[in-house]
Amino acid sequence: MNSAPIAFMDSGVGGLTVLREAMRQLPHEDVIFLGDQARLPYGPRPAAQVREFSWQMTNFLRRFGIKMLVIACNTATAAALEDLRSQLDIPVVGVIVPGARAAVKATATRHIGVIATEGTVRSGAYEKAIKRRTNDIKVTSMAAPKFVPLVESNEYKSPIAKKVVAETLQPLLGQGIDTLVMGCTHYPLLRPFIQDAVGPDVKLIDSGRETVGEVSVLLDYFNLATDKQTTGSRRFFTTGSAEMFKTIAGDWLDMADINVQHVDIEG
Ligand code: SIN
Repeated sequence: MNSAPIAFMDSGVGGLTVLREAMRQLPHEDVIFLGDQARLPYGPRPAAQVREFSWQMTNFLRRFGIKMLVIACNTATAAALEDLRSQLDIPVVGVIVPGARAAVKATATRHIGVIATEGTVRSGAYEKAIKRRTNDIKVTSMAAPKFVPLVESNEYKSPIAKKVVAETLQPLLGQGIDTLVMGCTHYPLLRPFIQDAVGPDVKLIDSGRETVGEVSVLLDYFNLATDKQTTGSRRFFTTGSAEMFKTIAGDWLDMADINVQHVDIEG
């Protein structure tokens, strides 16, 4: 049993899609969330820089005596998971393998689509994770760099967002893809538009949601789950605008009163 908090980190608000699921599946756990909004998007940045930023976020979060770290960002998972895992003495969970595993399970046509940031696509991390499981699956990956700014500017429900999503996903249509991985934790906020664009027969995989299942298993495996029976505490930090963060987090998490603090983590 362990009452220490679980930390979630992301380049921005996308990781809240993972946190929301964690609050649903593991309501008694204390959680801390950090979004590096001052430096997003991570997608176009070189992997080495994303790794450096990931360490800065990690070092900030470690001050809270965390028992587990969730990299709630695909780009940071691709760039930094192995490094963080090899050097930290707490479980570190990324979002890519759980998403890949769920996609392999879901596909019937054996053709999986992956939409993600440029960094994640460049890393080939989803292809590797899928092919490690089975080689008879075709993977078609595509970067969708316009999606993250739509979410971070709080325009993810707008007609513009609908249009951008439809135009971006057009090349994936008619290829026999029956499963599409939303390989960026920001994308589930655009889920209705993504589903509309690809049609009702394509199964969408929310890699963040799948990740929380893994967090839950690891809490049990390492005997780290809290034995509290009350709702856990929630603390939010951003390197960017606390007000903007509060607006999106309040809407997405359906929380009226959110305590968000601005922090500097560089150096
Ligand atoms: C980004 O900052 O570009 C998005 C992060 C992600 O890959 O989830």
